[in-house]
Amino acid sequence: MFFTPLLEGNLKSHNLISEIIYYPTTKSTNKDAWELYIKNNQTRILVISDNQIAGKGRYNNSWFSSPGKNITCSLLLNQLFPIEKINIHALLIPVAIILGIKKFLFIDLEIKWPNDILFKNKKIGGILIESKQIKKKFILNCGIGLNVNETDFPLELKSSSTSLKEIKGHIVQREPLLAYILNELTDLIKNLSEKDIIKLWLTSCCHINKRICFKHNGKEVKGTFKGLDKFGMAIIEHDNKFIQYSGEIRTL
Ligand code: BTN
Repeated sequence: MFFTPLLEGNLKSHNLISEIIYYPTTKSTNKDAWELYIKNNQTRILVISDNQIAGKGRYNNSWFSSPGKNITCSLLLNQLFPIEKINIHALLIPVAIILGIKKFLFIDLEIKWPNDILFKNKKIGGILIESKQIKKKFILNCGIGLNVNETDFPLELKSSSTSLKEIKGHIVQREPLLAYILNELTDLIKNLSEKDIIKLWLTSCCHINKRICFKHNGKEVKGTFKGLDKFGMAIIEHDNKFIQYSGEIRTL
């Protein structure tokens, strides 16, 4: 069972989160977070579940997680960056995860555009950010799935996924790990500019200047991932042109 008092006890401040809600079993913590928002009109809520039975991934994928082994949670945040830089929210979360895991477990993970967390090219975490516009501001529902103690990946994920337990060779305690991540997120929001977040994202990205596949004019084409612009969009070189891009990429 995920023991929320242990998470709370390891949080450095309550600036980011005002309430933690735990569901032993649920369909999707992102869905729960929206329902809570509609009911209470409040952000700064963290929803955690030990058994997510209909976890949503990006691009209509599903998210696999065995009961009681991993982190599946959603954090409701108020918009932090101006609307033209809304994409920076999607970069901030993986940076906090990378820094939190590094501090807690001393391992270096990498980011694949926009916010997959990888170890040696295998996926260890994914982030689904959904947003709702309320008057002129956005509410962001940041769903985080982290393979912490997973060892029973379904066949179709076995070769492309890994977990912190598989990397470290021992069980990893989830509550302090999530607290380390949320503490990093709090510090990043408090101390850093959009520029700094972009810099940190680039430092951890595993495909800078590498060949990738992406969708362009309805076709899958090859290009070189050059970096990010000041709006937090990907810049891809293709046919001697630099293209600003926000969609899915595939590394080669
Ligand atoms: C991805 O496709 O990589 C994103 C996966 C996001 C999964 C998390 S698990 C907690 C939260 N609730 C969901 O239904 N999805 C996100």
